[in-house]
Amino acid sequence: MRVLGIETSCDETGVAIFDSEHGLLGDALFSQVEMHAEFGGVVPELASRDHVRKLLPLVSEVFAQAGLPRGQIDGVAYTAGPGLIGALLVGASTARSLAMAWGVPAIGVHHMEGHLLAPMLEDNPPTFPFLALLVSGGHTQLVRVDGIGRYRLMGESLDDAAGEAFDKTAKMLGLGYPGGPRVAALAEQGVAGRFTFPRPMTNRPGLDFSFSGLKTSVLNTVTDHQQQGVLEPQTQADICWAFQDAVVDTLVIKCKRALQEARLKRLVIAGGVSANKALRERLEAALRPMQGEVFYARPRFCTDNGAMIAYAGCQRLLAGERQDLQVQVRPRWPL
Ligand code: KG4
Ligand code: ZN
Repeated sequence: MRVLGIETSCDETGVAIFDSEHGLLGDALFSQVEMHAEFGGVVPELASRDHVRKLLPLVSEVFAQAGLPRGQIDGVAYTAGPGLIGALLVGASTARSLAMAWGVPAIGVHHMEGHLLAPMLEDNPPTFPFLALLVSGGHTQLVRVDGIGRYRLMGESLDDAAGEAFDKTAKMLGLGYPGGPRVAALAEQGVAGRFTFPRPMTNRPGLDFSFSGLKTSVLNTVTDHQQQGVLEPQTQADICWAFQDAVVDTLVIKCKRALQEARLKRLVIAGGVSANKALRERLEAALRPMQGEVFYARPRFCTDNGAMIAYAGCQRLLAGERQDLQVQVRPRWPL
């Protein structure tokens, strides 16, 4: 089965074609990051308008990459939520219209299901069951995955998501948007041990997270230093190092706890923050003694992309799932 996937939930227009026999045949992505950077974050109305402009040219491009005439597919998958309502509607209505014109089924996919299945696009994919740590700009969740559509939420953030904490730290330090990769890059030049930030909710049992207190600690440190004068580049880097260390430490502690509780040895990390090098290395080191294995996607497929939606939609269609012609999107949608 060959499926066209369309992702427009936030600020990336992603389109791809996944074939269940031959793998990924085409993959195109347009990031709106530059457009939103001057506003310090995503402007929903601008995002929707740009998806309208970019989507069909990208659809054309992936068919060209695949060497296929337009429409030579068995289904169209699109992100139906969660995300920005206007942005989701662009992808959903385009996907449904294309599917109707080509006489194939369309299927709405959960954005986080797309993320959690993205490592399946790599060589040596994980087998079920596994534990998934979903860490994106909007979510921090630990999910037990027993198969496609068989997900059990084990823990989640009670306030800010991990990616959001990275983005807010970047903003406080004046590093601009998007924050995660910039904080991670600066952390590489940071000196260990100059600052220490809390590891929220790690001292008591449970698998939930909370990152808003950590954000306040960073803010207090930044404000203290600003009151003493300019924030030196080395101080910025040291704060980034300590912040990243606190987030990574917290995620590692909870992942180990969840793996033990679920009696699992395979861990999938997915979503934008799973591109973080320190997180990958620290999880791999933490799981080695328990003969555990960490799986993740290439950096391009950690952040939003069309390939993960094409893959998830293909699995759902192969399982016989079908939906009616209504264009349905859900800005809020539990996994
Ligand atoms: O999955 P994603 O592309 O979009 C959402 O579904 O939210 O995740 C974006 C998030 C942003 O918060 C971004 O700052 C963060 O992932 N991110 C990173 C890194 N790359 C992206 N955070 C830490 N380190 C990175 N290397
Ligand atoms: Zn995402």
